[in-house]
Amino acid sequence: MSETQTTGDGAVAAANADTLTVTDNRTGQTYEVPITDGTVRAMDFRQMKTSDDDFGLMTYDPAFTNTASCRSAITYLDGENGVLEYRGYPIEQLAERSTYLEVAYLLVHGELPTTPQLDQWKHDITTHTFVHENVKEFVGGFRHDAHPMGMLVGSVGALSTFYKDANEISDPENRALQTIRLIAKMPTLAAFAYRHIMGQPYYYPDNDLDYPGNFLSMMYKMTELKYEPDPRLERALDVLFILHADHEQNCSTNAVRAVGSSQVDPYSAVAAGVAALYGPLHGGANEAVLRMLKRIGNKENIPDFMQGVKDGNERLMGFGHRVYKNYDPRATIIKKACDDVFEVTGVNPLLDIALEVEKIALEDEYFVSRKLYPNVDFYSGLIYEALGLPMDMFPVMFAIPRTSGWIAQWLEMVQDKEQKIARPRQIYTGERTRDYVGIDARK
Ligand code: CMC
Repeated sequence: MSETQTTGDGAVAAANADTLTVTDNRTGQTYEVPITDGTVRAMDFRQMKTSDDDFGLMTYDPAFTNTASCRSAITYLDGENGVLEYRGYPIEQLAERSTYLEVAYLLVHGELPTTPQLDQWKHDITTHTFVHENVKEFVGGFRHDAHPMGMLVGSVGALSTFYKDANEISDPENRALQTIRLIAKMPTLAAFAYRHIMGQPYYYPDNDLDYPGNFLSMMYKMTELKYEPDPRLERALDVLFILHADHEQNCSTNAVRAVGSSQVDPYSAVAAGVAALYGPLHGGANEAVLRMLKRIGNKENIPDFMQGVKDGNERLMGFGHRVYKNYDPRATIIKKACDDVFEVTGVNPLLDIALEVEKIALEDEYFVSRKLYPNVDFYSGLIYEALGLPMDMFPVMFAIPRTSGWIAQWLEMVQDKEQKIARPRQIYTGERTRDYVGIDARK
């Protein structure tokens, strides 16, 4: 950044088209700040000072609503136009033609795999699906009614204690191994959590099955010698996994990057991601949508409910998004997947309520003016319920596929020379330099 004096005749503005000219009215000084990729660097403002001992200007952006925290080549999102692409491939094409494991490879490696690469990747993931026997024991230590997402935070974080070399994050081979392990073991941890709350025995992975089929087997296998997943349900689950795999710098990915920036092992960083995803404003929204639809109960109650939302007494869960100001493209695909699943399981009676809520919202001035559209979580819960899952498991179903996105983002972050430990600044608003007061003298 260069510091210039204003001339008053526009000479500064003409100096360089890809710059921002800033006049600090406190001092009258003018600065020229470079603009790259439509972005100015917050550090360029630090030189704007009122005196030599002034700290310099900071930017204030609670909730990062207008701050780019990284450069990333993984996921492209155009919220105004409802566009989502992984490594440049539109989500619609991936959902139609790809598989979750292929998409996970794409996110991690940057390109779609060739046949030998995909075969090797599938082999590697499949042969790392087992977890240490001790994992079963500590999952068994949770209360019978523990939330499976809380169990997942604990169990994925605990994997770091089984793979102690995982903190060697500067070794590319080591990173590759932990990447495989995380994607492979997440369904096993999730299924163990489910079996625990159901009071059922844990089932080991079946390595003859594909990724979603193996997950269904670990969840639902009972006395049969071999569980045979319905291929339509298996495909629907695979599509859901593709849709949830990554979503650029969302709350949980930001958590993984921020925690990972301390150079902790990836299991601990991903545990932070699971914890962030647990919240009702993020991955917990699918669970909250189902609870909301059940509370509405029948179509006659919808107008009162919507009025409550407009009066600010509640939120319409599964609606709205920080980035999408248009229909979430994932919601469109999920709506279609609902039909495929309901063909096997029978229609979820809550679908009618959901469709009616959506119809009213898309015509109502409150939602239209705020550009509130259904997001990925609005319909996914209906599918999970049709698959026989308890509501507590819904956010877990989000965490399984998001693991490939988290790890792809973590890999990008640890190799990015510009990244350092994430450490924001603050505007201090408290008291300063007071003398300690003995307890007897306090009012
Ligand atoms: N129901 C009612 N009003 C809403 C909703 C909603 N779901 N979402 C936003 N608004 C209103 C909000 O009250 C505000 O109105 P006003 O300008 O009058 O104050 C306006 O719309 C802007 O909302 P905001 O809270 O400033 O938007 P945000 O970007 O901070 O929040 C959000 C985004 C996703 C947290 C929010 O839309 C929300 O709480 N939605 C419901 C929870 C949900 O479905 N979350 C899943 C998100 S998608 C998957 C994921 O990321 O996990």
